Amino acid sequence: MLTHEIAVDWIARWDRQQEGYLPDREERFTALIDAVEALGRPDPLVIDLGCGPGSLSARLLERLPKATVIPVDADPLLLGLGRAAYPRLGFVDLDLRTPGWTESLPLDRPADVAVSTTALHWLAVPELRKMYADLVSVLRPGGLLLNGDHFDSDDATSVIARLERAVHDRHTDRVFADGRPEDWRQWWDSIAAEPAFAELIDARTARTTAGANHSGTESGLLSQHVDALREAGFAEVGTLWQRGNNRLLCAVRA
Ligand SMILES: C[S@@+](CC[C@H](N)C(=O)[O-])C[C@H]1O[C@@H](n2cnc3c(N)ncnc32)[C@H](O)[C@@H]1O
Repeated sequence: MLTHEIAVDWIARWDRQQEGYLPDREERFTALIDAVEALGRPDPLVIDLGCGPGSLSARLLERLPKATVIPVDADPLLLGLGRAAYPRLGFVDLDLRTPGWTESLPLDRPADVAVSTTALHWLAVPELRKMYADLVSVLRPGGLLLNGDHFDSDDATSVIARLERAVHDRHTDRVFADGRPEDWRQWWDSIAAEPAFAELIDARTARTTAGANHSGTESGLLSQHVDALREAGFAEVGTLWQRGNNRLLCAVRA
């Protein structure tokens, strides 16, 4: 049986696995939550896009206990983990590529902020543009999108793009000089072998077999996000925190 304790342990293991790809993950979470706090509202309404098992949503609630955080994801296993670990969070099962996805959000007013970490690059560019355009309709004027991810700039500044990756990779190598945490595949293989997760794994397999898996074309360029955000109606787009190509992108809704 999937208990609260089991879920908490697996999420801690998820966090370590994710840090293997970005050792500054906690620092980036902190910078992101600083920006939410700096908006000045003690009870912000926040949507977490591609929340996974809820690591960021949980940290947001810990710092801002009066906030309403709506974590959104399409992976049944990660949602199941999050629900078992964080009963205060109302996880929403939805695919950000589904037309009309914003209508499934339990919103009683426009959101103050949409946040996301290491997730939106999974969307192909047309899906990303549509998603940002839809997002504008549920964000209040002056509301923010805060998106932490790896963003490359090869199309505009190719030498700098290479150096940004080098800065990030060398930092990662230094942090893990004594050994890396398990990787993404090891984490998934291990959890798939646990009887407590059999049902969630089956649900996950059924969903990906039904075609809800990734398109294979990703939006990893900074310009793809900046252009899509401007087109969607965000007035300002800039970087709030950065190490190499690992950035916290901020956009302000007009
Ligand atoms: C690397 S994980 C990051 C999870 C979490 N944000 C974190 O930082 O730990 C990427 C997440 O994006 C979610 N995701 C990818 N494409 C999605 C889509 N189209 N709709 C909803 N969630 C999606 C995946 O299910 C996964 O949970």
